[in-house]
Amino acid sequence: MPDGKYPSTPRVDAWDKVRGAAIYAADDARPRMLHGALAVAAVNRGQIVSLDVERARAAPGVRLVLTHQDMQGVQSAGFLLGGGFAFQSFQPMLSPAIHYRGQPIALVVADTVEAAQHAASLVAATYAVEPFQLSLDAPAQDIVAQHGSPLPQATYADKVAGDADGAYAAAAVKVDATYLSPPQHPNPLELLSTVAEWRDGTLIVKEGSQNSGAVRHGLARQLGLDPARVQVLSPQAGGAFGQKNSHQSHTVLAAVAARRLDAPVKLVVSRSQGFHGASFRPASRHRVRLGADRAGRIAAAIHEADQQTSRHDLFPASFTEMTARLYGIRNFRGHERMVRTDVQTPGYMRAPFEHPAGFAFESAMDELAYALDMDPVALRLANDTTVDPLTGRPLSSRHLAECLRRGAERFGWARRSMAPASMVERDGTAIGWGVACGAHKAAASPAAARLEAFADGRIRLAVAGHEMGQGIRTALANVLARRLSVDPRTIEIIVGDTRAADQHLTAGSWGTASATPAADAAGERLIQALRSLDPGYSGGAPAEVLRRAGRASVAVEVATKAPGQPDAVFQRLQGGLPAVQGPEFPDFVSMSYAAHFAEVRVEPRTRRVRVPRIVTVVDCGRVVSPRTAESQVRGAAIWGLGSALREISETDGRYGGFVNADLAEYVVPVHADVPEIDVGFIDEPDPRLNALGVKGLGEVAMTGVAAALANAVHHATGLRIRELPIRLDQLLAAPAARPT
Ligand code: MOS
Repeated sequence: MPDGKYPSTPRVDAWDKVRGAAIYAADDARPRMLHGALAVAAVNRGQIVSLDVERARAAPGVRLVLTHQDMQGVQSAGFLLGGGFAFQSFQPMLSPAIHYRGQPIALVVADTVEAAQHAASLVAATYAVEPFQLSLDAPAQDIVAQHGSPLPQATYADKVAGDADGAYAAAAVKVDATYLSPPQHPNPLELLSTVAEWRDGTLIVKEGSQNSGAVRHGLARQLGLDPARVQVLSPQAGGAFGQKNSHQSHTVLAAVAARRLDAPVKLVVSRSQGFHGASFRPASRHRVRLGADRAGRIAAAIHEADQQTSRHDLFPASFTEMTARLYGIRNFRGHERMVRTDVQTPGYMRAPFEHPAGFAFESAMDELAYALDMDPVALRLANDTTVDPLTGRPLSSRHLAECLRRGAERFGWARRSMAPASMVERDGTAIGWGVACGAHKAAASPAAARLEAFADGRIRLAVAGHEMGQGIRTALANVLARRLSVDPRTIEIIVGDTRAADQHLTAGSWGTASATPAADAAGERLIQALRSLDPGYSGGAPAEVLRRAGRASVAVEVATKAPGQPDAVFQRLQGGLPAVQGPEFPDFVSMSYAAHFAEVRVEPRTRRVRVPRIVTVVDCGRVVSPRTAESQVRGAAIWGLGSALREISETDGRYGGFVNADLAEYVVPVHADVPEIDVGFIDEPDPRLNALGVKGLGEVAMTGVAAALANAVHHATGLRIRELPIRLDQLLAAPAARPT
């Protein structure tokens, strides 16, 4: 049985990526390719009264203009959380209804992208407008508690352990604070893009996605096709981050146009249209109450949160699924509500709930540390647990205390002075050191894999999974290479291709923990198959065995699932539906953990915040690809920094929509903002979640980073900023921030 830490191997697709040989959907350039461009709604809510497309149709190079009057027979693909496949139940262009500014109202297809974009600008609409509202301060009838709602209550009911309200009332030391997290957009470098074409009645779609299975089945439902007649190819996504985790609104438009024109149609949604064309991280507001004894044992936590949803769907939050489990707090009450607003349905964006919840809860923990006059690391260590507070089940593994201890050591935490504004450079620069933790469910989904070895030396693995840049190909190659005792670079990995294997959603940090056990099991099955040809085979290149046996190839298939899942989950996998399990399993609960330490430097006059260093130590079980795992954690630290100090999608209460809808105005960290990032892993396998001991990494690595930075800003300045992003105006407005 292969065991031990994995070596830091290079990315198996690095060479392809730097040469431009990694092919993304919009890279498909062929002589007969036609190009689409969208015209979008200029009002936030109402009805189209008139739509004039004559000038667009007459423009040079235009082949087709589609509006809601041309979409007969097309249906919604259904909402992901309602048995469907799309990020929202509402499919634009099936009626004159406008639900949000920026919603597509026409698709223009032309010989060139320039001609299509020009013609799209000539589409003219008039509207009957209706009032709308965008803020969390909505009338009571627009607020829906998750508890008691039609949503699955096993997941979305209040999270209750013990008697939190009673224990809070009786606590000696209390914190009661409210934190705000803004809407944000993930902005993957690869824009939302689709190439659709029809061959002999089969629809072939190329689209960067985390969920090619849902794109396939969503299109089949929308167009009334047998899913066998839909193929979706997503070998690479140029970043996805949750934006691409379900069926998109633009895809069917390209498919309908390609069918009308009997030619491949490429539709790239522009950067600014993407702000309204796909899901986003909704605004949320969190009230956190913590009650502790004077020694720092937390007796009670109450976490109540409101999150923005759309008017047409209920998009629920899972903030307290994480905060209930971060520490061993015996009395916990979590309550979440959804606030209807007039936007496209929000959705998942990296650590969708854990990041805002982590900012709120871990800021409150810092406030409690100061209320107790207790070191913030010591407070966290004093509230560790080995048992899940909500279910009483054991945690499959938890090394959060070790993350804190190692992180503190690497950071030099012992040299920190407790008092705010007590570490000052000679030029008046205020130094702040902050700590915060994160947790994230360690989930897993079923996966199907087909592994084939050829006499010419090739080895090919096809498996459920998607490569969004996180490095799943490298993780799969490492695991399989160890199992077969071959070089990882000799293995071809096929992911995100519905022709090669049924595809499940790759999200929620469960991709590696789902796909690598399938690859490992397939490797084991292949060894057995090779042994039946050569009883002496004990690993190494399969080609030798095949040649001696006179065989051109040998293939094996396996299907794996999460602990405790029934065999019926394989039908959901085949049907393109979510089939994930976690954090709760029949006999245990599984979470990944991280501890973050951050330094900020606050300039004395402008209050500009710079971040020179971040230390993150992660417990994600066994690390099967150290190189790409470190890269994930660096990206998460940078994203946490962006979220703490830069990112916000600004809404306009008068006209609706997101107004800073491009990368000039939606501010993300640039190179000069990026600190030294020191990454550590516990690298202890989780003994129960899967045979390899892998837990999730991509999102836990970001959870808590923003709180570590906000806590560092407080330590530097004495100012507690409870609203993200932290901006100069907040630091300058407070009298305490003025240099003395
Ligand atoms: Mo995601 S935010 O794991 O699709």
